[in-house]
Amino acid sequence: MRGAVATLSLAWALALGLAHSLPGKPGEAGLRFHHGAGTHLNDTEVASRCADEGGFDAVTLDEHGVMLFFRGDHVWKGFHGPAQLINATWPEIQGPVDAALRIHHKEAPGVHDSVYLFQGMRVWAYAGGRLRPGYPRLIGDEFKGVPGDLDSAVECHPEDCTAESLLFFKGGDVFFYDLGLGVLKRRSWPAVSSCSAAVRWLERYYCFQRVLFLRFQPATGQVPPGYPHDARDYFMACPGRGHGHEARRNATAMAIRDRCSGLAFQAFTTDDANRTYAFRGGQYFRLDSKRDGWHSWPLNHTWQELAGPVDSAFSWDKKLYLIQGSKVYIYRVGQGYTLVQGYPRGLEEELGITGADATFTCPHSAELFVIKGNSLRRVDLNLSPRSERLEGPIPHAQVDSAMCNADGVHLFHGATFHRYASVAELTASPKPSPPQNVTAVLFGCPH
Ligand SMILES: *[C@@H]1O[C@H](CO)[C@@H](O)[C@H](O)[C@H]1NC(C)=O
Ligand SMILES: *[C@@H]1O[C@H](CO)[C@@H](O)[C@H](O)[C@H]1NC(C)=O
Ligand SMILES: *[C@@H]1O[C@H](CO)[C@@H](O)[C@H](O)[C@H]1NC(C)=O
Ligand SMILES: *[C@@H]1O[C@H](CO)[C@@H](O)[C@H](O)[C@H]1NC(C)=O
Ligand SMILES: *[C@@H]1O[C@H](CO)[C@@H](O)[C@H](O)[C@H]1NC(C)=O
Ligand SMILES: *[C@@H]1O[C@H](CO)[C@@H](O)[C@H](O)[C@H]1NC(C)=O
Repeated sequence: MRGAVATLSLAWALALGLAHSLPGKPGEAGLRFHHGAGTHLNDTEVASRCADEGGFDAVTLDEHGVMLFFRGDHVWKGFHGPAQLINATWPEIQGPVDAALRIHHKEAPGVHDSVYLFQGMRVWAYAGGRLRPGYPRLIGDEFKGVPGDLDSAVECHPEDCTAESLLFFKGGDVFFYDLGLGVLKRRSWPAVSSCSAAVRWLERYYCFQRVLFLRFQPATGQVPPGYPHDARDYFMACPGRGHGHEARRNATAMAIRDRCSGLAFQAFTTDDANRTYAFRGGQYFRLDSKRDGWHSWPLNHTWQELAGPVDSAFSWDKKLYLIQGSKVYIYRVGQGYTLVQGYPRGLEEELGITGADATFTCPHSAELFVIKGNSLRRVDLNLSPRSERLEGPIPHAQVDSAMCNADGVHLFHGATFHRYASVAELTASPKPSPPQNVTAVLFGCPH
């Protein structure tokens, strides 16, 4: 059974990568499945998840970034694997649910990382897997003015909806609930109606209409061209479906794409929005700060101009710097990635350095750090022309890559990494900090 699971997963991974080369803008990140916990497929289960009459009552991410698909009395956790009874996880509620959403809003600790399940006139709120005290409540008491018997619901973040909001769908109406102000607005969106389920995933919003789905702009209700698609080609591993399941027998290709394979990465970077990128061969992995899980794509789906693997990477001023050999590519990061005109350029001309084993910038800083062998150099990115200054030796003879985020400086070597609270701690350290396991610690792979 394991083999069958793996085969389906890869077919699907490819499907998602390739599908986005069809519609959509170049550089748009496509969908990609979450490597759920290793679970077994059972023929009855496959049949019911992939059935023609399929579709879901509700879809949401949970507080760990695992996608939940609800139908009838059952829930599927992740993109493959068997159904479980809803009441096995949430004993206080008996399926079917009408709608589900997750609130991920650090500014409101009372609701942050809660999963809400809606049924009839009532709502159940779970935090850390437990029903929060005082629930279930009437939907209208929890979210003033929001009706019962909903079709679907989804959270919308401030960067997409100007304020932290919840979107509720019922018939042809969409209700916008401003979570901070407690104010409700009603919209009629002809293009996005009758959503049986809705979900936000990787900065994108999706409406399911039975087995079909479409993407929509959460502020305007516009649907980009090319939709709807069949959910069975994207959101689940269905036998015989999905594009390009040719390459699935290639174990090397599969290990490169599997974030848990333990193979070394050539480059890492974290940007100011706390998106983390990891580069390996022709593939990159991205983790958003919204706990959507790790996802991977072929490099050339996002950055067409690149030829071959990325050697090192760093982020500065809403731009991603990708270094290949003696060249640097600079991409502006917005809705997608745009190569800055005039690039690639020479590394020495652009940054005043002749080469690098690893590069990193810390969040909101204009100081670039360059590691070569055991020496650390510093480049002030605000200067022109730029040049490197020696910062000092580091207690590592060789690193593959490096990144710096709010948790500190991370140096990678093979399957392990070493963490330092700051650059000062790194240069002052007489010996390497304890090695940690990249896949287990950073990628959340099972031990
Ligand atoms: C498959 O899963 C269904 C639902 O969980 C269960 O009823 C059935 O017994 C399973 N079949 C096999 C062969 O394990
Ligand atoms: C859980 O749901 C199933 C299916 O609806 C039901 O048969 C079972 O009695 C429920 N279990 C509990 C403990 O409520
Ligand atoms: C398998 O995948 C690797 C890496 O993508 C590639 O270099 C190799 O040519 C592939 N082999 C086959 C037989 O497709
Ligand atoms: C940034 O993301 C990392 C995971 O890559 C997480 O551990 C960290 O807490 C996040 N930091 C902030 C400030 O959100
Ligand atoms: C992307 O690279 C792969 C090999 O890594 C190649 O097979 C594919 O044709 C490339 N796609 C594009 C659009 O260049
Ligand atoms: C790291 O963790 C993975 C599981 O995620 C395990 O297979 C591997 O053996 C571990 N590696 C080391 C060096 O401990």
